[in-house]
Amino acid sequence: MSLGIARPAYSQPSSLPLRTPPGPEDPARIRAAIARAPLFAALPISAIEDLTSRVQVRRVAVGATVVTQDEPGDSMFVIMSGRVKVVIFGESGREVTLSILRPGDSFGEMSLFDGQSRSANCVAIEPTSLLALSREDLLRHLAAHPRTSMNLLGEMARRLRRADETIAQLALCDVNERLIHRLVGLAREEGAQSPDGLVVRRRPTQQELANMIGSCRETISRAFNQLARDGLIIPRGRSLVVTPALIEKAEKRKAA
Ligand code: CMP
Repeated sequence: MSLGIARPAYSQPSSLPLRTPPGPEDPARIRAAIARAPLFAALPISAIEDLTSRVQVRRVAVGATVVTQDEPGDSMFVIMSGRVKVVIFGESGREVTLSILRPGDSFGEMSLFDGQSRSANCVAIEPTSLLALSREDLLRHLAAHPRTSMNLLGEMARRLRRADETIAQLALCDVNERLIHRLVGLAREEGAQSPDGLVVRRRPTQQELANMIGSCRETISRAFNQLARDGLIIPRGRSLVVTPALIEKAEKRKAA
């Protein structure tokens, strides 16, 4: 689904270093990255070796568009390092962030299976290393290693669950509740334990939070500042502490 004009601030695929020949890469590093990815969890060694022989390493700069919405898809990707944002641009350049993907996460598989164009844009938000697997190589691998198909189905089911949760929240929860849910989610996904709570090293901007939960920056700013005044979150330099009190509040609301 395209919501209109797209891809304002990011570089176009033609400027991507995706087509530059990959540098020499240690196969052990590639193997380790494959084995770490949930998509390839619990595969036999033979399947890991097969994938290692098929993938190519791609390095992309921050801001580069790896996958462009509405274009045909010919490869899927696994993140070795860095982060990638899955985003849809609306008219007037507004963004909806569908997901922030981290090392081990994969993307770009949907168009390979349904033969349609890319469903969203995938943009590197940090310098990122990727493993790229072409459609032909993926299909050959799946034919020889059906266990990977089961993993793929599991990943798709998880994503659908998350999307269902987001739809329900948009319909049932106010902005404040959605913000609390997202902050607690971020803390669980990438927070480090500290005496005050879970520390998210790189605090998302208020605009980024707005894009994630379908709101606008001004509304998020008010809700965010109130949570900080209530001592439920602690902005600390570029990081953010999500306190146990906020986590408890989110859990109580879920149970209610
Ligand atoms: P594809 O459609 O080939 O290209 C865009 C990719 O974004 C898509 O495959 C998925 O891998 C990924 N994607 C689309 N929607 C979501 C979502 N809601 N959550 C996470 N990833 C997504």
